[in-house]
Amino acid sequence: MKVFQHVSDIGDLSVALAEAQEVKRDRYQWQHLGRNKTALLIFFNNSLRTRLSTQKAAMNLGMNVIVLDVNQGAWKLETERGVIMDGDKSEHLLEAIPVMASYCDLIGVRSFARFESRADDYEEKILNQFIRYSGRPVFFMESATVHPLQAFADLITIEEHRPTPNPSREGGERGEGMLKVVMTWAPHPKALPQAVPNSFAEWMLAASRQGLGIDFVITHPEGYELDPQFVKGARVEYDQMKAFEGADFVYAKNWSCPGVTRPEDYGKVLHDYHSMMDWCVSKRQMAVTNDARFMHCLPVRRNMIVTDDVIEGPRSLVIPEAANREISAQVVLKRMLESL
Ligand code: CP
Repeated sequence: MKVFQHVSDIGDLSVALAEAQEVKRDRYQWQHLGRNKTALLIFFNNSLRTRLSTQKAAMNLGMNVIVLDVNQGAWKLETERGVIMDGDKSEHLLEAIPVMASYCDLIGVRSFARFESRADDYEEKILNQFIRYSGRPVFFMESATVHPLQAFADLITIEEHRPTPNPSREGGERGEGMLKVVMTWAPHPKALPQAVPNSFAEWMLAASRQGLGIDFVITHPEGYELDPQFVKGARVEYDQMKAFEGADFVYAKNWSCPGVTRPEDYGKVLHDYHSMMDWCVSKRQMAVTNDARFMHCLPVRRNMIVTDDVIEGPRSLVIPEAANREISAQVVLKRMLESL
């Protein structure tokens, strides 16, 4: 594996899920793969889970790890070509990338959407420069448009908590063994990127296509339609309560306007969040589900996205979901090491 960006990069999801369970059984069995190899983790933005879980995954594989916070202690980087560099940026990404690559074998990069230009964000201008100029395998640790390590961990978590089919129950409308997974928009005071919902949708739809028995539904207020490249084929239900009916898993996340129908609204919060608090996931919505498990990638703003009682309740999966970030990262790094 040379790039980890989309669900297609991991191939057969049943194979990947089996590999994840093999990692869980003994995560230290491949230390020979990482011996004398170095992972460089580059952060243009803050992180808790991605930083720690990816570092741990690399160490499980016997790797050395270097973590660079670009905005703390490194030279400020210019990312545009043709700029006269007379401002506060002392180094250009085009020199920095090959220099950083010379010290490592694999590169992970976190670089969020900047919301300056939809085209730049959706073309993945920063990450593509790493792919093009580093000469190293590159894995996305959340980019402008995707967060595949999160989505893979989410899928692992769903599979681990899939209810065992009840042979005495009738198949019903969706069929025995079929899961209803609902991704819901929820309010937030700031403009957040679409990377997490894009990837979650991409991975759920791929899982559905690959026969993993997932019925995927997205619910959000009008105007927050996600980019078709990620959600083509997904069912969208604008009535949140209706979407939640019979859900087995509820995945909450805020995202700003993707600018699909009105490009000028890209990256905007379309409504004052005070008027959208009905969308905050609470017992009211969870009551119409099939005793659904609650998921969120974290960090989460309580009582904006989800109420205290739901996130702390017995059906919440947010902690095992975060723990699975180590597993998803380890499968990806292992495959990259195997392909060096
Ligand atoms: N879910 C996630 O990526 O968390 P961090 O932003 O803390 O890495």
